[in-house]
Amino acid sequence: PVYPLFTQPLVQGANIAPKASLGNIDYYEIDIKPVDVQIYPNLKPTRLVGYNGQVPGPTFRMRQGREAIVRFINHGDLANSVHLHGSYSRAPFDGWADDTTEPGQFKDYYYPNRQNARTLWYHDHAIDHTAKNAYYGQAGFYILSDAQEDSLFLPDEEYDLPLALAAKRYNSDGSLWDPEANGETVSVFGDVIHVNGVPWPFKEVEPRKYRLRFLNTGISRSYQLYFEASGSVGKQIPFTVFASDTGTLLNPVQTNDLYISDAERWEVIFDFSGYAGQNVTLRNSRKVAADDDYAATDQVLQFRVGNKVSRTDHNLDNTSDKSPALPSTLRQVDFPPAHAPTEYNFRFERQNGKWEVNGVTWSDVNQRVLAKPERGAVQKWTLTNTGGGWSHPIHIHLVDLQITARRGGRGALMPYEKVALKDVMWLNVNEEIDVVARYAPWDGLYMFHCHNLIHEDHEMLAAFNVTALPD
Ligand code: C2O
Ligand code: CU
Repeated sequence: PVYPLFTQPLVQGANIAPKASLGNIDYYEIDIKPVDVQIYPNLKPTRLVGYNGQVPGPTFRMRQGREAIVRFINHGDLANSVHLHGSYSRAPFDGWADDTTEPGQFKDYYYPNRQNARTLWYHDHAIDHTAKNAYYGQAGFYILSDAQEDSLFLPDEEYDLPLALAAKRYNSDGSLWDPEANGETVSVFGDVIHVNGVPWPFKEVEPRKYRLRFLNTGISRSYQLYFEASGSVGKQIPFTVFASDTGTLLNPVQTNDLYISDAERWEVIFDFSGYAGQNVTLRNSRKVAADDDYAATDQVLQFRVGNKVSRTDHNLDNTSDKSPALPSTLRQVDFPPAHAPTEYNFRFERQNGKWEVNGVTWSDVNQRVLAKPERGAVQKWTLTNTGGGWSHPIHIHLVDLQITARRGGRGALMPYEKVALKDVMWLNVNEEIDVVARYAPWDGLYMFHCHNLIHEDHEMLAAFNVTALPD
C-alpha cells in the first residue's frame, strides 16, 4: 500500500538503563515480546516482535571498561539467539545459530566492552529464523564510547543521530509480508524504507554539524546514499565519512555518496549550516533488479533545517575549544600487517538452489568449519562472489578486518574503505576482495556468513575455529 512520504517524525529508541550494578558490571534485562505498532495511519496496526516490545530495540549506551550482562527473555513464538554485532564476545555469548533460546526460556549474555568506541548493534541470529526475527523487530543499537573518541569532541546528545535503515514489504491490510510464510529463498528488497522503525520520516535539525550513525538492519537491500537540498535539486552535497563498523577511521574522508549494505555501519559528519530554511533529503541512487524496485526507494529521510542554532559546542568549527575541527588523524587504527599470503579462498555462490560457501552449507555439520586460524595469527582470506546478479555482504565474527583489495565489480576500494577496519564487507555482484585480520583475542568456534538474511537462513553460513597455540 502507498505510504505518504515525510509525514511522520523521526524517533530515537529510548536508552536502556541497568537493573542492577555490582562493581564494574551492569546487569540489564530485555523481554522479547510481540507489540502492535501503528505503521500505516489508516490501516490496522502491524504486529511486530521487539526487544522490550520496541522496534528498533532500546539503545544501549556503553562505556569502554564497564562490563555488561544482558538477560534476554523469550516471550515470542520463535526460537532466538542474540548476536552483539561488532563485539569480540566469547563464543558462548556470540549468538551461535544453533544455540537457541526457545519460547519461555531466557539466556544471560556477557559482553566485555573492552574494544574501542564503535557503533554496534544487537540482533537475532537463530537458525532458520534470523531474517524473520530481525525483520519483525529484533534489532537495536549498542553504542560504545571511550575517552579517545571523547577527545574528538564530535557532535553529541541531540546532534548525534543513530539511524537504522530497514526496507520492508507490507500486505494490503497493513501486516508485514512474511518471508517465511511466503517461502522466500532469495531476497526481500522491500519497497518501504524505514528509519528507526518509521517509514520515510522527517527530522527537524538546526543549521550546524551533526553526527549521523548509519546502520543498515534490512534483510537484502543495499543503498548508495547521498544528500540533496531543496534549493539545488540534482546536486549531491559533500559530507565527511569518519567512522565505520569498528569505530573511527584513520583519516576523515570527503565524499558525495556512500555505499552501505546489510549490517554495515558508516558514520558521517553532515553540515547543515548552509541550508537554513531548506529541506535536505537523504536519497538513494542504488537500484536492485528491475522487478524488485519500487516508486519511492530512492528516498530515505527528510531533514528540515531550521534557522537557529541552540548549542555551538561540539560543532567542529573552531568557535570554542570544545569544538576543535576534526584532526587529520582520528585514531591510531590497529591495521594488521597487510602482506600476509592468502590463507583461504571462499566462494559465495548459489548452486542447485542452495546458498553455499565453497560448496558447503550450515547443515553439513561435519564440513562447516572451513578455517582454523591459530589464535593471534594474521591471515588473509580471499572472498569471491561467483556471480548470478546478487551481492553478498560478508560478516566475519570476532575480528576487525581490513579490506586490502577489491577486484571486478566496482574495481577498487571506496576511498573511505581504504582507511577503515570492517566487520562486514560488501561483496558486490562479480566482486572479489582480500580481507586481513588478526584472529584474536579468544579461541573458539565463530560464524562467518552472508548478511543478506535470506541467504544466511538458507545456509550461506559457515564457521571458523580459532585454536590455541600448542605449548
Ligand atoms: Cu550481524 Cu552473524 O551477524
Ligand atoms: Cu548473500
